[in-house]
Amino acid sequence: MKILFYDTKPYDKETFEKLLPGFSGIAIDFLKTDISPRTAPLARGYDAICAFVSSNLGKDTLDVLHKCGIRLLLMRCAGFNNIDLKTAKDYGMTILRVPGYSPEAVAEHAIALALAVNRHLHKSYIKVRENNFSLVGLMGFNFYQKTAGIIGTGKIGAAMAKLCHGFGMNVLAYDVYQNPDLGFASYVDLDELLASSDLISLHCPLMDSTYHLINKDTIEKMKDGVILINTSRGGLIKTEDLILGIRARKFFGVGLDVYEEETKNVFEDRSDEILEHSTTARLLSFPNVIITSHQGFFTQEALEAIADTTLSNAKGYETGNIPSGNIVDS
Ligand code: NAI
Repeated sequence: MKILFYDTKPYDKETFEKLLPGFSGIAIDFLKTDISPRTAPLARGYDAICAFVSSNLGKDTLDVLHKCGIRLLLMRCAGFNNIDLKTAKDYGMTILRVPGYSPEAVAEHAIALALAVNRHLHKSYIKVRENNFSLVGLMGFNFYQKTAGIIGTGKIGAAMAKLCHGFGMNVLAYDVYQNPDLGFASYVDLDELLASSDLISLHCPLMDSTYHLINKDTIEKMKDGVILINTSRGGLIKTEDLILGIRARKFFGVGLDVYEEETKNVFEDRSDEILEHSTTARLLSFPNVIITSHQGFFTQEALEAIADTTLSNAKGYETGNIPSGNIVDS
């Protein structure tokens, strides 16, 4: 099988090339450019393309891939909200993904963001480098004996709940299903979680039912001085309402690994550009907001697991042996 990789970073190439010898019959060509209607024709002559979380797999791109004879889309990520599933289905394309690679990687990043905004690490790092050893403005609060509210208790949310429990926090959970592994957590309705939590962390997928889950109404229901963390998907939070909430001093801090306008930014060095994204710029202007660029997954362990599952999916497509959770129902 010949696979064309789009949007390849040096660390992707390194990790996949390390595992490739264990998957005979698979050949990969790596492209730095991401997929779009203009770059999709490069896939002619390949059996599959491999893309990532913010790749453009909308109708126009799939139309071109179909004309090039591509029937297999290998996603080296969990999410697939960037794919036009209806068009993929109409063209009989198979979409395979990596449903879970290292939930702990993302959960640990969520904790890192929560601790960093709580203890103002982003400010103290800069201050001390400039010989400013004053503590003014750096006071945080103990997580110990406070309440963590976890929204979505699947693989990542469960890992986050366990970390919060390890900090000695009381853990509240909200999900459409209860995770039997989380005996220490109390499942409550969303309103109770919002009203009682000192730390709220989002771990549910982006779907119609969760789009803008955090909005003016839900923010109003939160405790004053809450810390809000989003490592899931930007669309879970209505950014304009978040900004109003930050201005109204609702939040002690906000940590975002994902945000609504991230698509053009994710994994790109745009440091020489004048950015026209006013919403992101406004978010960055607040002293109690930390934004990272979708790096929750980015650990050695997670990258190796992603490469292993993606290559196994490619093999499985040929042998008809694919775990059902890896198949995206289009
Ligand atoms: P999962 O599928 O194991 O868990 C998602 C949970 O959300 C499930 O328990 C599900 O029942 C729950 N859920 C569904 N609808 C809900 C609703 N309306 N309200 C509350 N809960 C609801 O997924 P996993 O692996 O834990 O990933 C969670 C999300 O994390 C992904 O959807 C993805 O958006 C994000 N993610 C972010 C990464 C990053 O680098 N920042 C990397 C990987 C995933």
